[in-house]
Amino acid sequence: MSPSPRHGQGPGQPDYVLGSHGAEHARLGRQHAIWRDEAMAAWQRAGFGRGQWLLDLGSGPGFASADLAALVGPDGRVLGLDSARRFVAAAKQLAQERGLSQLETHCIDLASPDDWRTLNLPARRWHGAWCRWLAMFLPRLDPLLDLVQHSLRPGGRLVLHEYIRWDTFSVHPGGTELRRFMARCIDHWRAHGGDPDVASRLPALLEARGLRLLNCRSLLACSPTSGAKTRWLLDFVGSYGPQLQANGIWSEAEQSALTAELAEARQRTSLWLTPALVEMVWEQPGQQTLPEAAVAATAGVGAGVGVGAGVEGER
Ligand SMILES: C[S@@+](CC[C@H](N)C(=O)[O-])C[C@H]1O[C@@H](n2cnc3c(N)ncnc32)[C@H](O)[C@@H]1O
Repeated sequence: MSPSPRHGQGPGQPDYVLGSHGAEHARLGRQHAIWRDEAMAAWQRAGFGRGQWLLDLGSGPGFASADLAALVGPDGRVLGLDSARRFVAAAKQLAQERGLSQLETHCIDLASPDDWRTLNLPARRWHGAWCRWLAMFLPRLDPLLDLVQHSLRPGGRLVLHEYIRWDTFSVHPGGTELRRFMARCIDHWRAHGGDPDVASRLPALLEARGLRLLNCRSLLACSPTSGAKTRWLLDFVGSYGPQLQANGIWSEAEQSALTAELAEARQRTSLWLTPALVEMVWEQPGQQTLPEAAVAATAGVGAGVGVGAGVEGER
């Protein structure tokens, strides 16, 4: 499958706005470690478990995919999809290192209406889909939602962790420079076709496709300076500030003022608010058509079966 031009990844062409270089790979690892408990709790609420087929949409270097693969076990199947070749290669390597033959990854542009169709995914066969911090980067959501609608079996679950209000990112008291930085990040993403408040649009779009909201909750955190979520926020500022600078939309003087403000906030008692992240669990309509045992029998998982093989057309 050929990559779409937008994701050509030639020299100096980042595949997504934060890049897929080693530093971002490492940051995503630290980020996953900090948000892993919330992810696993969401998977449990959605009923993800052994023997299931799950999609990881925008899987990055595969940190969550590997946890999902461990959850479904060797009789299950996890398919990670991402547009960044380096991340897809890293996820493949992670699967190998951990002996997770049930984990496959493919490089596709989830904002392209045609890319995912080239995978020939079995229709209405997947028990679940996990989508975290992807939709916010997509200039169009229809391809992603088409894929979900096509793939989930009746009763299958879509679990989303996406932002609904990114501008809640702040430190209190004060935080003038951080507010400026937050606004610049939002401008940068919007200029690249993203929407850092994408979760506010998803309910109408998913409802229009017949999916039903099973539950939702806020994951906005208010953290003290010593908290893990604050570590996560500072990690992001430390890596993204220089990237904004390299793009010429954040000056050295602004970065210095921000660094000084954050250092000062860390010296006193401060409250750090994360961007407002929300969890939603949606269900594909319709009766489940196959008992679990029949699904497991037709799965052919872990035996080197290609993505589209075996069960295409069984609806
Ligand atoms: C912030 S990372 C999140 C990675 C992973 N979901 C996680 O929670 O650790 C965003 C991911 O979305 C991917 N992405 C961005 N635009 C994409 C697109 N159009 N198609 C597929 N993946 C995309 C990036 O390559 C990156 O891996």
